[in-house]
Amino acid sequence: MKDLLFEGPGSPSPFAFDRSVASVFDDMIVRSVPCYELVTRAVIDLVQRLAVPGDLVVDLGCSTGTLLVALADETRETGLRLIGVDSSEPMIEQAIRKAEAVQAELRPGSCAPTPASPGSTPPGSSS
Ligand SMILES: C[S@@+](CC[C@H](N)C(=O)[O-])C[C@H]1O[C@@H](n2cnc3c(N)ncnc32)[C@H](O)[C@@H]1O
Repeated sequence: MKDLLFEGPGSPSPFAFDRSVASVFDDMIVRSVPCYELVTRAVIDLVQRLAVPGDLVVDLGCSTGTLLVALADETRETGLRLIGVDSSEPMIEQAIRKAEAVQAELRPGSCAPTPASPGSTPPGSSS
């Protein structure tokens, strides 16, 4: 559906990944994120080059699942496990519908940093 949410008076405010945004999101994102399709293509190419059978690829904040579904479509028979997670219910509902024909798991959920446990070593630091 074409995104006309911010045209004219009475625009939704504040912005949220709610049902109205989810309903036009696929149109909104290609118009609002520079080079969105190019970046999506680059991510798929990278996964195809680097991932090996058995690898898990997780799309955190997958929205309507556009990237994950394209990735699943282009990596059939490669043995990758694909998971998409999004905290917006309307977004993940659409992603689940879009992913019906491909091998990918879509899950509602919120990603948040977890506090370091006592004595743990921060990633990237040498012990
Ligand atoms: C800009 S969109 C991402 C676009 C998407 N990755 C794509 O390629 O089409 C941001 C998404 O992240 C989700 N999000 C924001 N905070 C989140 C969190 N803490 N956990 C999970 N999803 C989150 C929003 O609901 C929204 O769908």
